[in-house]
Parts: sequence; C-alpha cells; structure tokens
Amino acid sequence: MRPTLGPTPITRLRRTRQSPAIRALVAENTLSAADMIWPVFVREGENVEEPVPSMPGVVRRSVDRVVEAAREAADLGIPAICLFPYTDAANRTEDCAEAWNPENLSNRATRAIKKAVPDIAIMTDVALDPYSDTGHDGFVRDGEIVNDETIEALVKQALSQAEAGVDIIGPSDMMDGRIGAIRQALEAAGHQNVMLLSYAAKYASAFYGPFRDAVGASGALKGDKKTYQMNPANSDEALRCVERDLSEGADMVMVKPGMPYLDICRRVKDTFGAPTFAYQVSGEYAMIKAAALNGWIDGDRAMVESLMAFKRAGCDGVLSYFAPDLARALA
Ligand code: PBG
Repeated sequence: MRPTLGPTPITRLRRTRQSPAIRALVAENTLSAADMIWPVFVREGENVEEPVPSMPGVVRRSVDRVVEAAREAADLGIPAICLFPYTDAANRTEDCAEAWNPENLSNRATRAIKKAVPDIAIMTDVALDPYSDTGHDGFVRDGEIVNDETIEALVKQALSQAEAGVDIIGPSDMMDGRIGAIRQALEAAGHQNVMLLSYAAKYASAFYGPFRDAVGASGALKGDKKTYQMNPANSDEALRCVERDLSEGADMVMVKPGMPYLDICRRVKDTFGAPTFAYQVSGEYAMIKAAALNGWIDGDRAMVESLMAFKRAGCDGVLSYFAPDLARALA
C-alpha cells in the first residue's frame, strides 16, 4: 500500500445525503411512470366498475371504462396497459375455445383501445386459465396438464390477439416450447413486429391469490400449478428458462412475482442484459394496501420504495397495479 501523504482522508458517507439536491444528484436509480405496465381487469357490460374485494382500489371495468382508463394512463405517461379478462362462466369450457374467439372480451377491449388511444401499447396474457373450467393454464388430461396439446391452443390464442392489434403478447402459461411456437406462427401470419414478453421465470406462488379472485379462477382451480410454474427454491433454473425463451424468440423477459424474487431479477439482468421486467403481483399489492389501510405503513412511501427496488435490482420496468397511483404520486 502506498503511504498517504498528509492527514488521512475522512470518508463521511453522510456528506452526500445532506440535502434533497445532493441526494438527487447522487441517486443511482430513477423511477418514473415510463417504467410502468398497468394490469387492468376487463368484464362484460357497459359503464361498470366493480371492485375486487381482495385488491382495494382495483376494479373490473367494462370495455368502455377500460378505454377511459387507457386514456388516463396515457395522459399520466404510462407506456403500456395489460389486459386480463374476467370471463363469464358460460365461456369457461373444457375446449377453452373462447380464448381464440376474435370477439372475446380481451380482443374487443384491444380494438376499442387501439382506436381511441393509439399511443398506449397494449399487452395481453396468453394462458388458458380465464377460459378453462379447471382454472389451469393448460388442458388437463387424466389429471395431467398436457404440454404440446396446450401449445396448439396457445398459438391460436396469440394469433387472435395479434389480429386484434395487441403490441406485446405475454405468455404466462409456462408450457415448454410455447415461445418458439408462437413466434413462428406470428412470423408466418405477417405479425413480425408483435413483441413477446415471456413470463420466463414464473414461480408457483401464494402471491397470486387475489388475482385469481379478480379473474374468477380461484373457485375453479383444482390442485396447484407446481408441475408447470417454478419451485420458489430455484434460481439457476430461472436462468435456464430465460435463456431458452430468448433463444426461441422472446423480445423481453419477466420475473414473477416481484418483491420476493429481486435476486432473480438481478441475476437475469446481469446474465443476459435483455429487457427485463418484474410483475409486482396481486398479493404484493394487497399486502401493501392492507397495511396502509390499517394505518400500519405509509402506503405511498411503501409503494414508491417497493417499485424503486425493482429498478435497483436491474429491471427495466414493472407490471404493477400501482401504476396510475405511482404516476400521480410522482407528478
Ligand atoms: C395466469 C396468470 C396469473 C397471473 C397473471 N397471469 C395467475 C396464475 O398463474 O395463477 C397472476 C398475476 C397476479 O397475481 O397479479 N396465467
């Protein structure tokens, strides 16, 4: 070691924390509305907003109200909205045919938003759970969630979404090989510019509970999703999922849930450098909301802190039910 000349320099890390101006100057990460993808629930009807009890502040909207919400989101600087349909019981069937019906709720909402708010990007979910009578993301045959037969249906679903005008397709089903199959089908159908945001590292999580209430799938679900969603004990496997999905044609990848999996976000970003997103899922939203509504935490501060954590962990953006609240809090 080189001997120091003169007095030892005194490192005082508090110097760069002394005022808002200096703290802003040395901030390593930023958070803005532009980092957000806003998941919204769509239902039938007109002029309806129906609260989701386990997600205070979140509603299911009829298509006309979804269009209004999309306009509001665009005005707030939110770049993308993600549609989740609440399908009527009559359209939840063994063959899941409603999933690729050009007139299904998701496709009608897509066309209506595209027409009225062309600037906002539209993302949709590819998986059979909103349309199946079992609540599973794939077909169930003799108690098994069958992979390859499910993929044929997922491809039809993705094509019908692309046809309706979706910008970003998000396969959340966790079947093996679906990214490649969907990518090839999109190319063949002339949808070369439709993006795939793969739910690449999606864990079998307890934090999806309120979402399943929101889309009406919790009552139906028989068993669990552990044969296709990942084991929360695993981390190397997440990298293999991401590598596979990127090689099959995913443009962006997602880690889900978010807050309990920030280590995965960091590894994925460091390893692949691809556009990386996290989904702060329904249960994470519900926890923060519930504590805030009880006066146990400052809800706005917890929201901003939790979302900043994703940026710090390397994410390029976050899917969060807080998106409009965040945009308003930062405005
Ligand atoms: C369905 C899907 C789920 C979520 C998004 N897409 C639930 C599940 O896998 O059971 C969860 C989102 C959330 O909890 O906010 N394929």
